[in-house]
Amino acid sequence: MYLTREEERILDGERGWAEQICMQILAKLGDLFGANQLIPIASAHISGVSYKTLGDAPIEFLKALTENNAKAKVNATLNPSSIGQMLFQNKFPKKFHARQKTILELFQKMHVKPVLTCTPYYIEKPALNAHLAWAESSAAIYANSVLKAWTNREGSPSALAAAIIGKTPDYGFHQAENRKATTLVKIEAKLRSEADYGALGILVGKKLQSGIPFFQGLKPLENDCLKQLGAALASTGNINMFHYGQMPKEEIEKMVITQKELEQTAKNLSTAGSETKPDLVFIGCPHCSLNEIKQIAQILNGQTINDSIRLWICTSRHIKQRAAPYIEAIQKTGASIITDTCAVVTWTHILGINTIMTNSAKTAYYAPTLNKAQTIFAPLEECLKTALQP
Ligand code: F3S
Repeated sequence: MYLTREEERILDGERGWAEQICMQILAKLGDLFGANQLIPIASAHISGVSYKTLGDAPIEFLKALTENNAKAKVNATLNPSSIGQMLFQNKFPKKFHARQKTILELFQKMHVKPVLTCTPYYIEKPALNAHLAWAESSAAIYANSVLKAWTNREGSPSALAAAIIGKTPDYGFHQAENRKATTLVKIEAKLRSEADYGALGILVGKKLQSGIPFFQGLKPLENDCLKQLGAALASTGNINMFHYGQMPKEEIEKMVITQKELEQTAKNLSTAGSETKPDLVFIGCPHCSLNEIKQIAQILNGQTINDSIRLWICTSRHIKQRAAPYIEAIQKTGASIITDTCAVVTWTHILGINTIMTNSAKTAYYAPTLNKAQTIFAPLEECLKTALQP
């Protein structure tokens, strides 16, 4: 990969160890994927924040970066952590709280903003065609497909390195020729809810494994449904972009999704028996939009939730603030509005949660392994009705 003289100097260590190691990461990545150059980025979004998923190993690396004065050069934001604001105080072993605190402090020292959300695009929407370095698969696919920004699905180290250098290697989704649809997906199934969009994503991700699907006949196009579709696609496949709307001009391979397949996929996302009651109803994977919060407040409509079931609504602090009247109404029902984390990246089993009901196909897909929990997968309205049942 070609490096400018300034980039060469960084690689030679003239600007210190932190920038040198970050440049090494980017140069290695660029060489591996055949990039010709580094390009400036508008923002970086960094995953690998939750102590539950991160563990101890990377803490020393983060410490070394801060000791060598690493600072983000672009707008850099953080994915959810393992511990939410307020609600989880003292619920986990002291060591977990201390380590999570350390991780957050280290990132903050590097000027990475602790927004602790997987939906950074609600805080600041990237400009059209902006080049980004976003980790968090659900955010990267949403940025490419819905917001029409340009990003690879970064790993945690490469997103952090890109934040500190302010650049990313120019390959993959940063190049127009790699952003074209590769498979036309004809949907013969009815998409009735956001859960159906999620099930569709799980199914197509599994069938395709990689590539860029074009979805024929996606209507109505609500961004919250597209968010569920993208998060699920990126869970079962190495898929970082999808298209919809105007049909591709080129002839590409075709795939048909039938009603039966979609229903079976949705059914398989529930692992709990039909009589099982959830301990937790979890909404907000990916973190809720303002529109979703409003919808939840309307469905709950001031009723009280069953006190044997926990209802968690996960969102960002930013959306919580913007949705204040709806948040107040939701909290009055007994539901918890949780920021900075989500059910998947926290230790739900320590909280005694064995069965999770959710409208998120991504959560339903991961919870049996990451949360050691049984799942019940259903649309939002059904999830909320379950939480309200006496
Ligand atoms: Fe976000 Fe947690 Fe889902 S980080 S995408 S809410 S698994």
